[in-house]
Amino acid sequence: MPLLQWKPSYSVGIEAVDHEHKELIDLINQLYGELMAKGEPLTASAFFGDLIKAISAHFALEERFMLERGYDQLSQHKADHERLLDEILAIMDDFESDEATSRDDLAARLDAWFSRHFETHDARLHKALGTHPH
Ligand SMILES: [Fe+2]
Ligand SMILES: [Fe+2]
Repeated sequence: MPLLQWKPSYSVGIEAVDHEHKELIDLINQLYGELMAKGEPLTASAFFGDLIKAISAHFALEERFMLERGYDQLSQHKADHERLLDEILAIMDDFESDEATSRDDLAARLDAWFSRHFETHDARLHKALGTHPH
């Protein structure tokens, strides 16, 4: 089972942005698949490293776009990005003591964060400024 499932509440209402978020979720699921695979497993620390890298790359793109365009809620938006990365780091710390619970926790937190962040901060950003260039 994938770690995350796309759902309507993730939508920002702009197809190109939803597409990009779907790609991010696919990538996260792919990494999770490698973590769970038997045989040649991705280690937990490599998994978290790659997960954070993928999410950070997406955030960096948005933050650069907001900065270039003088977006009025850059600091609030950025703070919410940072909050998620802090949560992931905290889950990573818990991982060694209780792997199964930490995995469930990661899935639940990512899901809740994506629903809320995409629906609020990202929807506002992309409605105001459109889609950022790649
Ligand atoms: Fe986004
Ligand atoms: Fe964002």
